[in-house]
Formats: sequence, C-alpha cells, structure tokens
Amino acid sequence: MISLADNQISGSIPPDISKFINLIFLSLEGNNFTGIIPPEITELGKLQRVLLSNNRFSGNIPASIGNLSMLDEIHLQNNDLNGMIPPSFGNCPMLVLLDLSQNNLSGTIPNELFQVTPFSVKLNISRNHLVGSLPAGIGALKTLVELDISENEFAGFIPAELGDCVTLDSLYMQGNFLQGNISQSMKKLRGLRNVDLSRNNLSGKIPDFFENLSLKYLNLSWNHFKGELHTKGVFANASAFSIVGNKGLCGGIPELRLRRCSTHKMSWVQILIMIGSIQVLLVVGCLLWLRRKKTETRAVSIGPASVFLIRLSYELLHQATDGFSRANLVSEGGFGSVYKGELGAQYSENAVAIKVFNEGAANNFNTECGALQNIRHRNIVKIRSTCKSIERSGKEFTAIIYDFMENGSLDRWQYLTCRTSHHELSMPQILNLKNRINIAIDVASALDYLHNQLIDPLIHCNLRQSNILLDAEMSAYVSNFGLAKFLADQWHSDGFTGPSEYAPPGKITIQFQLHT
Ligand SMILES: *[C@@H]1O[C@H](CO)[C@@H](O)[C@H](O)[C@H]1NC(C)=O
Ligand SMILES: *[C@@H]1O[C@H](CO)[C@@H](O)[C@H](O)[C@H]1NC(C)=O
Ligand SMILES: *[C@@H]1O[C@H](CO)[C@@H](O)[C@H](O)[C@H]1NC(C)=O
Ligand SMILES: *[C@@H]1O[C@H](CO)[C@@H](O)[C@H](O)[C@H]1NC(C)=O
Ligand SMILES: *[C@@H]1O[C@H](CO)[C@@H](O)[C@H](O)[C@H]1NC(C)=O
Ligand SMILES: *[C@@H]1O[C@H](CO)[C@@H](O)[C@H](O)[C@H]1NC(C)=O
Ligand SMILES: *[C@@H]1O[C@H](CO)[C@@H](O)[C@H](O)[C@H]1NC(C)=O
Repeated sequence: MISLADNQISGSIPPDISKFINLIFLSLEGNNFTGIIPPEITELGKLQRVLLSNNRFSGNIPASIGNLSMLDEIHLQNNDLNGMIPPSFGNCPMLVLLDLSQNNLSGTIPNELFQVTPFSVKLNISRNHLVGSLPAGIGALKTLVELDISENEFAGFIPAELGDCVTLDSLYMQGNFLQGNISQSMKKLRGLRNVDLSRNNLSGKIPDFFENLSLKYLNLSWNHFKGELHTKGVFANASAFSIVGNKGLCGGIPELRLRRCSTHKMSWVQILIMIGSIQVLLVVGCLLWLRRKKTETRAVSIGPASVFLIRLSYELLHQATDGFSRANLVSEGGFGSVYKGELGAQYSENAVAIKVFNEGAANNFNTECGALQNIRHRNIVKIRSTCKSIERSGKEFTAIIYDFMENGSLDRWQYLTCRTSHHELSMPQILNLKNRINIAIDVASALDYLHNQLIDPLIHCNLRQSNILLDAEMSAYVSNFGLAKFLADQWHSDGFTGPSEYAPPGKITIQFQLHT
C-alpha cells in the first residue's frame, strides 16, 4: 500500500511506479500533484483502490485502465483531466465506485461503461463538459445507489430504463439540458430519497408517484413543469422540496402561495359517474390508505454508498479476533464459525463479523461470494471484504467479512422470549409486534428482490431464523448464502439439493409466534 494523502507533495507520478507489482492500494489524494496519470499504472494488475482526487493531474485518463481487473474503487475527482471517459472502464468487473467529477472531461458517456453492471454502487461524473443523452444502458446498473450526472451538458430525455435501477437512493441531474416529461417508469424507484432535477428543461405535469415515495429532498426548480402541484408526501413539507422557477404550477400547500388551480364545471354525466363510483372508490381508497400507511412507516433506507474494504490478510484477521479466540466467537455452524473482530480505525470504525469457513467448505465460500457479489439490497448482508490465504499451520484459510450485527440472529430472540431470566445479554428480550411485522417485511422484501427483481433469480435454499440477522435498529438482513443457487443454473441440473427448509420462489410463509 502507498498512502501519501493530504500532504503538499508536488511533481508527477514517475512511470517507474509500474515496478511495484504487488501494489493494491494507491492513495495520493489531496496533494499538489501535476502531470499525467502514467499509463504504466495500468500494469499494476493487483491494484484494488486508486485515490488520486484533489490534485492537479491533467491529460487523459489512460485508455488501458480496463486492464486493472481487480479495481474496486477509483477516485479521480477534482483534477484537470480532459478527454473522454475511457470505455475500457467497462472491463473492470469489480468496480463499485467510479468518481470522475469536477474535471474537464468531454464527449458522451460510453455505453461500455454499463458493463460494470452488477457491481456499481456509486457513479459520479458531475461537473464536467459531457454531452449527449443519458444512454438507455443505464438500466443495467441494477445495484446503483447514487448517480450524479449534474452540472454537465447532457440533453435529450431521461431514459425510461432509469426505472430499472431499482436500488437507487440518490439521483442528481441538476444543471443540464434534459427535456421532456419525467418518465412514469421512475415510480419503480421506491428507495429514492434524494432527487435533484433542477435547472433543466423538463416539462409536463409533476407525476403523482412522487407523493408516494419516501423522498427526503426533491428539487424540481427552474424547469417548465405545469399543472396542479400535489400536497401529500414530500409535497406536504415546504422545506423538503423546491419548485421555484416553474411558472405553470398551481395549487400545492398554502405556504407556497401559488395561484389556485381553476376548477372547471362538471357536466351532469360526470357527476352521475362520480356518484356511481364513489362507493367503489371509498372501499378501494380505504384499502390503499391502509396499505400506504403501512409502507410509509417503513421508510426505505439504503444509506450512502458504503466504503468497501480491500481484501484483507490472514494476519490482520488473526489480530482482529485475538487469534480467533472463543471470547470472540459469535456462532458456529455447518460451514464454519463467525467471530466478532475489530480491524482498527484505518479499515473500519465499526466492529465486523468474520465468517471463517471450515476446511473443505471451499464450495460454500465460493457460492456465498458469487451470490453476494452480484446483489445489493438493504435487507441482505453486504460483503465488506474477503480473505483467501494460508494459515500459519499451512492449512487453507477462507473468510468473508461482514458488518457486525448488534442484535444477532433471529433465533436467539425467539429463544430469549422463553427465557426472560437470561441475564447474559443486555438487549430488550421481547420482540414486540411492530418489530415482528417489520422483520417480516424486511425478509419479504429481500426475497422479493432475490426472486423477482434480479435478471437471474437467486434462491437462498437455507432460509431459517438463524440466517436472519438484526442490526442495532432491529432491521433484518438475510445472510448465509452458502447454499444459494441461481435459478438459471438449476435448469441444467437434476434438481435441488438444498435442505428441507428450501422454499420455492413465489410463495413463502414467514411465521412468527405471538407471545401474549
Ligand atoms: C501547488 O503548486 C502551485 C504551482 O506549481 C503553487 O503555486 C501552489 O502554491 C502549490 N500549492 C500548495 C498547497 O503547495
Ligand atoms: C493491457 O492489456 C492488453 C491485453 O491484455 C495488453 O495488450 C496491453 O499491453 C495492456 N496495457 C498495459 C498498459 O498494460
Ligand atoms: C459528486 O461529486 C461532486 C464534486 O466532486 C460532489 O460535490 C458531489 O457531492 C458528489 N455527489 C455525490 C452524490 O456524492
Ligand atoms: C478543457 O478541455 C477543452 C477541450 O476539451 C480545452 O479547450 C480547455 O482548455 C480545457 N480547460 C481546462 C481548464 O483545462
Ligand atoms: C434547488 O435547486 C436550485 C437550483 O439548482 C438551488 O438554487 C436551490 O438551492 C435548491 N433548493 C434547495 C432547497 O436545496
Ligand atoms: C427547452 O425546451 C423547449 C421546448 O420544450 C425548446 O423550445 C427549447 O429550445 C429548449 N431549450 C433548451 C436550452 O434546450
Ligand atoms: C421537513 O423537511 C426537512 C428538511 O428535509 C426536515 O428536516 C424536517 O424534519 C421535515 N419535517 C417533517 C415534519 O417531516
């Protein structure tokens, strides 16, 4: 690793850097470096993370950047880079974060960029001079959490395919020349919390579905929207949204002091139809309202793009767990053991869970990595890092590192409800009805994602209470994907070999005992 961040070093990166053939981490951010990013850097095949932001690098991004097949994060923001975005970024299969913002990049977005699909979490290309329209290929970024294309010169329509980026949390597109209506397909983005479309050339009515999303921030100002402004959801809170500079809007909450919308007179036929359907509407309305109430209280939260760890060494994990001591053992199962560990502040502020696979469980390690690398959902555990190494004793060592879940697995809670005299753990000992319902919704939404929202549906095959983890806020996460199977693989084999708990996709019953 080389870290020289936040100093006052000037000069350029010597091409000889290519001699550090084992380099995995290069951080030169926050200095006064100038000159080009030497293409030789792309010969460092083990590089995982490159941080060159906040310098004065100029010239093009090396076209061969796609040779870095291990690259997981690259930060080039706030430099003087020019030229086009190299299409070869699409060859980096591990890339989760790409930040090219605040440079002098020009040209269009290469469609190849979206080949990084399964892995992308954050894409920031704001504050450049990029042109053209946002390619439809963006819909391939099924795990994207933050997209920032603001302050460029993009034109054309917002592609309907954006609605396929179902895990999107933040969408920044302000300061471009985007035109047309907001696509109805965006109603599929149920996790959206921050949306800025201000200073564009968008028109038409503001779509109804914005009312139903759990938006925290919605900026539609300085466009050409017209028609009646809604009053519910985000539109009920004047400090959460902005619509200034849209001359054609009327209605909305009184604080806005918009003109009232003119109501046109209804014909008798319309009135009769209205009366006729009022009963139906009442019933449907009640049902919808009840449903909305329920979902509203579960604001979808994915959180900001998480910082991923680089792959870790056996020594570090050994140290983090006091030599895999029993005091740090959290659970033991068929495939291995889970330890609580402290990696140290330079890796992770929070404790992590380290799942060490038994010898001979290499398949489960591979399956779990394979399954989880491709998916990101707020109710599915995230891999922070992995380790494949040789132990001191010469045995093969494989481990996956996750966030540590404060409240353990669901089966422990069920157990505790029967043993209220248990003192060992300082947690509230009873899951109340609200917790139970929320856990059921969390698990159901994870399964809905696995079964219905992935292109290639994934079947967990081992869903049980011990594999449902609870964080400090009692949000539930599905874990333990060691037996998971992609449905597509199944068509070619002789049937499922999962344990009896296997539940076919489509119908899953989640049962909770209610203790009175
Ligand atoms: C960075 O370099 C420029 C010229 O090369 C110099 O004017 C400036 O003071 C330097 N900044 C710092 C923080 O060293
Ligand atoms: C990148 O990879 C290609 C093919 O693998 C190779 O021909 C080329 O020389 C590499 N470029 C650099 C700069 O390493
Ligand atoms: C994108 O980059 C710009 C400039 O570096 C920054 O101001 C902005 O906050 C970033 N967007 C996101 C979503 O992080
Ligand atoms: C930005 O790039 C354009 C050409 O793409 C060039 O003419 C201009 O000088 C560059 N600006 C800076 C500040 O580097
Ligand atoms: C909304 O966007 C406009 C223009 O981009 C900006 O001036 C304004 O501060 C934003 N409003 C809020 C509430 O952030
Ligand atoms: C904005 O859209 C209108 C039509 O809706 C068009 O006439 C105008 O040229 C557009 N402006 C820009 C800057 O694209
Ligand atoms: C209104 O929005 C602001 C800014 O997003 C937020 O701080 C505040 O809590 C919201 N108020 C209500 C009642 O939701």
